[in-house]
Amino acid sequence: MVAPSTDAGSPGSRTYTERRAWLHEYFDRTAASAWATLTSDSKVSWVRRTVREGRERMRHTLSGYFPADLTGMRVLDAGCGTGVQAVELARRGASVVAIDLSPTLVGLAETRSAGKFEGGTIEWRSGDMLDARLGSFDYVVAMDSLIHYTLPDMLDAYAALAARTRIALAVTFAPSTPLLATLHAVGKAFPRRDRAPSIEPVAMARLLAGVASDPRLSGWTTGRTQRIESGFYKSQALELRRATGGTACGS
Ligand SMILES: C[S@@+](CC[C@H](N)C(=O)[O-])C[C@H]1O[C@@H](n2cnc3c(N)ncnc32)[C@H](O)[C@@H]1O
Repeated sequence: MVAPSTDAGSPGSRTYTERRAWLHEYFDRTAASAWATLTSDSKVSWVRRTVREGRERMRHTLSGYFPADLTGMRVLDAGCGTGVQAVELARRGASVVAIDLSPTLVGLAETRSAGKFEGGTIEWRSGDMLDARLGSFDYVVAMDSLIHYTLPDMLDAYAALAARTRIALAVTFAPSTPLLATLHAVGKAFPRRDRAPSIEPVAMARLLAGVASDPRLSGWTTGRTQRIESGFYKSQALELRRATGGTACGS
């Protein structure tokens, strides 16, 4: 059973809260069935197949930042969607908390996951990934779930998650290129109702500088990073690792 919403109100700024509401609407209603299809084995168009392949590579890249054996580790899948990553981590022995704004996607994730893992456990939840009541973790993965937030909100999210994470975060961001920045600016000219939630591209140097200068992340270092491009899918993995021994989990 999916646990009831953990929406604890408003972690974050007004822009975060507004964007979160928009994402909730989009992923729970407008795009829920498209996401269900994209993340299944059903036949899709060539374009979506390239996106699927890129996402698959990204999933392996991010989970490759964690040890192969996650037995005894508490892991947060932050913005789990239909749960493919959560299942992979549970298969490796983790106790996973998988949370997403969309109860529809989480319900689907739980149904799909039945009988697919043995080693670990998955606690499915709908709500906000930044809800402090979720507790603390050894590792956190956030695949393409923070790419819709502005850079300051993304940094707030990293800081909030890092404060509750003992070892490492594996996140993605939408890498900004001059072309993407132009398209993004053009896209902003269209009325909001006509668009999917826009992605907030960010130049890697700006993001790394933001992490390095954020006092809330002073005990953290950025590690491996990898850009993955496949058709229309463009995203970049980034590892953030606690530089000093943490005590978050179980506290
Ligand atoms: C692009 S989808 C990716 C889903 C999944 N991580 C994957 O890679 O298949 C982004 C997901 O992040 C979720 N999301 C965005 N902001 C969130 C938040 N603040 N808390 C929880 N989930 C969030 C959305 O509902 C959506 O399902």
